[in-house]
Amino acid sequence: MTLDPRALRDAFGCFATGITVITTADSDGTLYGVTANSFTSLSLDPPLCLFCLDYNAMSFEAFRNSRHFAVNVLGEDQEGISTNFARSQPDKWNGIEYVTWETGSPILPGCLANLECDTDAIHEGGDHVIVVGRIREMVYREDDCRPLLYYKGRYNALSGASAVNASATSSPAD
Ligand SMILES: Cc1cc2nc3c(=O)[nH]c(=O)nc-3n(C[C@H](O)[C@H](O)[C@H](O)COP(=O)(O)O)c2cc1C
Repeated sequence: MTLDPRALRDAFGCFATGITVITTADSDGTLYGVTANSFTSLSLDPPLCLFCLDYNAMSFEAFRNSRHFAVNVLGEDQEGISTNFARSQPDKWNGIEYVTWETGSPILPGCLANLECDTDAIHEGGDHVIVVGRIREMVYREDDCRPLLYYKGRYNALSGASAVNASATSSPAD
């Protein structure tokens, strides 16, 4: 059966996700950043996460050759950052604030969480690769912050009860 690519994209889009900007730097100090909603937690012990990267991304070779990357989890006020890093333009770092930790991968301020990773494995996955990272350092916000969401091809935001209230009413088994 041949699937219509547009319909497949729409079907995948029914799965609501958060949004990240995945960053790295090469040995010359050139910076790379890609908006990605394929980020997923993978393992607690060892601490692993993954994201999927399109072979056609301009930064593909940089991520494939890099031994590190950082995951920046965007908040609802960071739609502009997401839009910026979803462009294949060399100027995408102009005016962007960042700091670096140990590996040199850019860490964006004001995010819900930042995770610095060592690249652990890269697996083939059709027209993407699956990049697995081992988390070496992280920070996350514990206040009642709200994520930037992506659903059916559009940006979205949480509505209703805050994450803090929701966890207060969840069952002990959660
Ligand atoms: C909400 C959203 C999520 C995206 N998720 C991914 C993703 O998980 N993997 C990917 O390779 N591209 C993803 N993209 C597309 C890239 O961000 C886009 O192709 C970007 O231009 C790649 O940057 P580069 O060409 O400079 O490498 C996403 C775009 C948007 C708007």
